[in-house]
Amino acid sequence: MSDKVQLRFKENGPIRVSGSVDIVDAQGKVIESKSDFSLCRCGLSKTKPFCDGSHNGNFEASEGLGN
Ligand code: FES
Repeated sequence: MSDKVQLRFKENGPIRVSGSVDIVDAQGKVIESKSDFSLCRCGLSKTKPFCDGSHNGNFEASEGLGN
């Protein structure tokens, strides 16, 4: 298995993170280590930066970058 973390843009949905990452604050302190989760890109999640499913039916974007 690769050590690379993969970010996959889901059509009309979040950015799926596959792999293990450290989430750090502005000072570089690790807040949490997490793996295999989704980041919100619609702006509607109540648990930002994570996706809570609020995008369903409320967000349109392609799977590509820049949308
Ligand atoms: S992308 Fe899922 S709540 Fe924003």
